[in-house]
Amino acid sequence: MATKKTIAVVGATGAQGGGLVRAILNDPQGGFSVRAITRDVNSDKAKKLAQSGAEVVAANVDDLSSLEKAFHEAHGAFCVTFFWEHFSPEKELAEAMNMAQAAKHAAVQHVIWSTLEDTRKWVPLNDDRMPTLQGKYKVPHFDAKGEADKLFTGLGLPVTLLLTSFYWDNFIYFGMGPKKGPDGKLVLTLPMADRKLPGIAAEDIGRCAYGVFKRGHELVGKTVGIAGEHLTGAQMAADFSKALGKDVVYNAVPYGVYRSFGFPGADDLGNMFQFKCDFNEYFCGARNPETALALNPALESFEQWLTQNKSRIPLGD
Ligand SMILES: NC(=O)c1ccc[n+]([C@@H]2O[C@H](COP(=O)([O-])OP(=O)(O)OC[C@H]3O[C@@H](n4cnc5c(N)ncnc54)[C@H](OP(=O)(O)O)[C@@H]3O)[C@@H](O)[C@H]2O)c1
Repeated sequence: MATKKTIAVVGATGAQGGGLVRAILNDPQGGFSVRAITRDVNSDKAKKLAQSGAEVVAANVDDLSSLEKAFHEAHGAFCVTFFWEHFSPEKELAEAMNMAQAAKHAAVQHVIWSTLEDTRKWVPLNDDRMPTLQGKYKVPHFDAKGEADKLFTGLGLPVTLLLTSFYWDNFIYFGMGPKKGPDGKLVLTLPMADRKLPGIAAEDIGRCAYGVFKRGHELVGKTVGIAGEHLTGAQMAADFSKALGKDVVYNAVPYGVYRSFGFPGADDLGNMFQFKCDFNEYFCGARNPETALALNPALESFEQWLTQNKSRIPLGD
């Protein structure tokens, strides 16, 4: 039997990386094996991955030599950063550089960099439609990822840039789901005006990444944008109403109001939603559900995702 190609996966115990690990393990005839990277090989999540058949190794994206070991003799590497753990674009840039250097050192044959746009290419810092944040960013959790694209391409790595979309899982974990208003009615508050929001089940990002590794050479040097569906706030509220069996209304709050909500990162997210609205045609066009479906035949619609996950969405009952 031919030797399997090993994919080293950063963030393997998390959403994107976890989806990729499971996609590889669920396809034993696919020709790939998986090396799950975690900071703690003894955590419950890491042990579960090992029990499922993954090779589990320790590394930290802040530590280049640990990454070099973790990428050693791997065919592919899935690279992602964790903005919401530290809120620092500079840290993301340093971590992306570490991953790019480790991939170069290991002569990895296919790298996926999970990225987003550097919004400053569309909204320069002197454009005052939205505030500049942290001194030199418009959407900090996007901008550094986009800026880091050139760290991967600049080293001449065989990289596919994977443009991801809003996780529907944010309705479970990020406090973005429908909430009861003063009149007891459920309200979905999003500053998306009447524009479409490309969204995806987080698990599908990993499954699409697996599709990218399977396609291999053909997607090296390409940017691949993925989404499950593009939906307006009103369409999502209608899907929520159907799934929950209760009326959910869409509240298209203005971006400025959203920025002032005061939770950590509200300003960053307010700017992000404004970027998605102001450049909606570009933003949706860059994330084609057909592309995602071709990479991942199991791609879920929002309705399918809701059917699976509706009981996990905190509604503040
Ligand atoms: N939420 C969205 O809608 C959305 C959409 C597009 C893109 N994103 C981006 O997705 C990224 C996060 O990816 P995710 O959601 O897959 O993450 P996640 O689910 O939060 O998982 C992060 C995992 O990464 C590991 N990790 C954290 N810090 C690490 C470090 N220093 N070194 C090595 N591993 C580390 C942790 O595993 P261990 O504890 O096992 O080490 C953790 O399980 C963010 O940068 C965010 O901007 C989010």
